[in-house]
Amino acid sequence: MWVRSLASAALMAGSLLSTASAADLDPIVIKGSKFFFKSNGTQFFMKGVAYQASPTNSTSGTFIDPLADEAGCKRDIPLLQELGTNTIRVYAINTTSDHSACMKLLNDAGIYVVSDLSEPTLSINRNSPEWDDRIFERYTSVVDALAPYANILGFFAGNEVSNEANNTNASPFVKAAIRDMKAYIKKSNYRAIPVGYATNDDQKIRSELADYFNCGSSSESADFWGYNIYSWCGNSSYTESGYDQRTKEFENYSIPSFFAEYGCNVVQPRVFTEVGALYGSQMTPIFSGGIVYMYHQEANDYGLVEIGGGGTATKLVDYNNLKSELAKVSPSGVQSNSYNPTNTAARPCPTADSNWSASTVLPPTPNRELCSCMVSSLGCVAATKVQEKDTGELFNYICGEAKTDCTGITANGTTGEYGAYSMCSPLERVSWAMNAYYTKQKKASDSCDFDGSAKTQTPATASGTCKSLLSEAGGTAGTGTVTSSPNSSGTGTKGAAVGLTIPAFQVGAVKIGAGLFAAALGGAALSRIALFRISGATIGYRYDAALNWMEIYGQLERQLSAALSSEHKLPPQELSTDVNPMTSENGGEQSRGGEVAAMQARM
Ligand SMILES: *[C@@H]1O[C@H](CO)[C@@H](O)[C@H](O)[C@H]1NC(C)=O
Ligand SMILES: *[C@@H]1O[C@H](CO)[C@@H](O)[C@H](O)[C@H]1NC(C)=O
Ligand SMILES: *[C@@H]1O[C@H](CO)[C@@H](O)[C@H](O)[C@H]1NC(C)=O
Ligand SMILES: *[C@@H]1O[C@H](CO)[C@@H](O)[C@H](O)[C@H]1NC(C)=O
Ligand SMILES: *[C@@H]1O[C@H](CO)[C@@H](O)[C@H](O)[C@H]1NC(C)=O
Ligand SMILES: *[C@@H]1O[C@H](CO)[C@@H](O)[C@H](O)[C@H]1NC(C)=O
Ligand SMILES: *[C@@H]1O[C@H](CO)[C@@H](O)[C@H](O)[C@H]1NC(C)=O
Ligand SMILES: *[C@@H]1O[C@H](CO)[C@@H](O)[C@H](O)[C@H]1NC(C)=O
Ligand SMILES: *[C@@H]1O[C@H](CO)[C@@H](O)[C@H](O)[C@H]1NC(C)=O
Repeated sequence: MWVRSLASAALMAGSLLSTASAADLDPIVIKGSKFFFKSNGTQFFMKGVAYQASPTNSTSGTFIDPLADEAGCKRDIPLLQELGTNTIRVYAINTTSDHSACMKLLNDAGIYVVSDLSEPTLSINRNSPEWDDRIFERYTSVVDALAPYANILGFFAGNEVSNEANNTNASPFVKAAIRDMKAYIKKSNYRAIPVGYATNDDQKIRSELADYFNCGSSSESADFWGYNIYSWCGNSSYTESGYDQRTKEFENYSIPSFFAEYGCNVVQPRVFTEVGALYGSQMTPIFSGGIVYMYHQEANDYGLVEIGGGGTATKLVDYNNLKSELAKVSPSGVQSNSYNPTNTAARPCPTADSNWSASTVLPPTPNRELCSCMVSSLGCVAATKVQEKDTGELFNYICGEAKTDCTGITANGTTGEYGAYSMCSPLERVSWAMNAYYTKQKKASDSCDFDGSAKTQTPATASGTCKSLLSEAGGTAGTGTVTSSPNSSGTGTKGAAVGLTIPAFQVGAVKIGAGLFAAALGGAALSRIALFRISGATIGYRYDAALNWMEIYGQLERQLSAALSSEHKLPPQELSTDVNPMTSENGGEQSRGGEVAAMQARM
C-alpha cells in the first residue's frame, strides 16, 4: 500500500500540470482585465485579507512564515472564512518549511493565496536597487515552493519598491524580476500563474508606474496590478476618497487590477464603508476586489483580530464591521465566454521627466553559473573572510576613490546601462572589482590585498558553458549582453539520447531513476517524454527538450515532493500499465500514449 500510494503520487506528479484532484480549488485564470474561475468561467472578485504577523522582537531578516504554522492556520482560517474571505496575501514565506498543511486548510476553506516573492533580506531595495543572483534564487525558490498548489492565485514581484519620484530608477529591476519569473514559471512547466506588482499610491508617480509595468513587450510586463490604497477613511465617499478618479484611470487597463492593501485606520474604529463601493456597480467593471490590511492586530493598529498571550484569537470591532460590510455585497461581473476584452492595448511607456526616471531597458537576467565562471576566471578574488556587509566599503574604495572602471558590475536604472556582471552577488562583484584594480595596477604584488581582504588565484581556463557564457558577457570586461537563459545553454544535453543512463536520485524515501529507459519520444520539437522507474512502476514525464538532465530531475523532484507532501489530496489511483499521457496547460500538444506504451513494452 505504501509503495502503491507513493507510486501513484508519482504518477500524478508527472501529470500534475493538468490533473487537479477533485478536492483542489479551481485555479483562477486571467482573461483581459478580469479574473475567472477556470472551469466554469464565473468572474472572480478577490475578498482578501493580508495575513502575516510581524515577529514580536523584530531583528532584521526575521519573519514568521504564516503558511508554515499549522496551529495558527487551524485557529485563523475559520475566522477568515466567517468574514467572507476568499484570498489571503502573504508577504514572506520560508521556502525550507512545509506549507502543505496550511495550503490544504486554505484550499478546503475556499481560500486562494497571493504571495510576495521577497523576504526582508532578499528584496529589491529602492535606495540601491539590484536584481541579482541571490534575489533571483529567493524568488524562484518561492515559486517552486508554492506553484504546485492549485489555490495559488499569483505572485507579487515587488511591493511599493519605487514609492516616490526620487526612486523610480528602481522600477526596471522590479520589471526584470517580473520578466524572469514569468519565464521561469513557463520553463518549469508550472501552471500559468500570474506575476504582478503591488504599488503605493503616490500622486506624482502612480499613473507612470501603472503605465510602466503595463508597457512594452508582454514577456516583460506585469500580469496584474495591485494597488495599496488608503484614501478612504471613516465615512468617506466614492468621490471624496478619490476612488472615482482611480477607477477612471484604470478603465482601459489591459490587465486585472485590484486593491492589494486597503483599509485606512485614521478614523477608528474602521467602518469599512469602502467595501460597498469596491464591490458595487461603479467599481466592479474595473477592479477585481481587494485585500484588507490586515488580520493581526499589532503596534500599527491595523488588526482585525487580536492574538492573545495563550495564542487565542479575539475578534475586534473592525472584524465585525468588515464582516457586516462584506455580507452586504455580491459582485456578479461577467461570464468569461461572453466577455470579449476590447481594452487590450498596452500603455505607452512613460517618458522621463522630473517625476519619472526609469529606463525601459531592463537589467540582465541573473545567472549564477555565469557569475561563478567569471569568478573562476579572475586572478584576484575576495578572501574567504570577506562578508557581504564588508562589500560596500570595498566598492566605495575600489570603484570610487581608486577610480577603477567598474562598468562591468554597475547597473543604472535611469540610463538603462547594465554591466553583464551587475546581476552577480555583492561578493562575486567585489571579486570582479578587486581583479579590475589588480589588473589596472599591472598585477603589482601588493595590489591584490586590500588589508587581507583579497587573494590571488590561478585563473581557470574557461571551457564549455563557461567559455560561451563568458564570451557572451564580453569576457572579463563584462560589457557584452548575455542572451542565454540561466543554466540552459551549451550543456551538450539538448535533445536527450535514447537509452542514456543517468544517476539515481532520492526524493524523501523514494529512489528514482535507477535506470532511465528512454527519452526523446517524438512529440513536438520542444517537448519530449522521459520514462522513469519508481517503486516498481513507470511514470512518463513530459519535459522541455531544451533542458538538461539536472534541470529535468530538479523539476521532477519538485513536483514529486509537492505531490508526496500533499498526498492526501490525490485521489486513490490504481497503477496500470497505461501510463497517463501528459498534457501541458501551456499549449503543449498531447503526448502520444501509443509511444509511451510501446516504450514500456520494451522494458
Ligand atoms: C463557479 O465555481 C465557483 C467555485 O468553484 C463557484 O463559487 C461559483 O459559484 C461557480 N459558478 C457558477 C455559476 O456555478
Ligand atoms: C523579546 O525581547 C525581550 C527583551 O529582550 C524578551 O524579554 C522577550 O522574551 C522577547 N520576546 C519574544 C517573543 O522573543
Ligand atoms: C526557515 O526555516 C528553517 C528551518 O526550517 C530555519 O532554520 C530558518 O531560520 C528559517 N528562516 C527564517 C528566515 O525564519
Ligand atoms: C527622496 O525624497 C524623500 C523626501 O521626499 C527623502 O526623504 C528621501 O531621502 C529621498 N531619497 C533619496 C534616495 O534621495
Ligand atoms: C509631477 O507630479 C506632480 C503631482 O502630480 C505634478 O503636479 C507635476 O506636474 C509633475 N511633473 C511633471 C514634470 O510632470
Ligand atoms: C458613519 O456613519 C454612520 C451611519 O451614518 C454613523 O452611525 C457613524 O457615527 C459615522 N461614523 C463616523 C466616524 O462619522
Ligand atoms: C479609455 O478609452 C476611451 C475610448 O478610447 C477613451 O475615450 C478614454 O479617454 C480612455 N480613458 C483613459 C483613462 O485613458
Ligand atoms: C547551474 O550553475 C551552477 C553554478 O555554476 C551550478 O552549481 C549548478 O550545478 C548548475 N545547474 C545545472 C542544472 O547545471
Ligand atoms: C545613473 O546615471 C545617471 C546619468 O549618468 C547619473 O546621473 C546617476 O547618478 C546614475 N545613477 C546611479 C544610481 O548610479
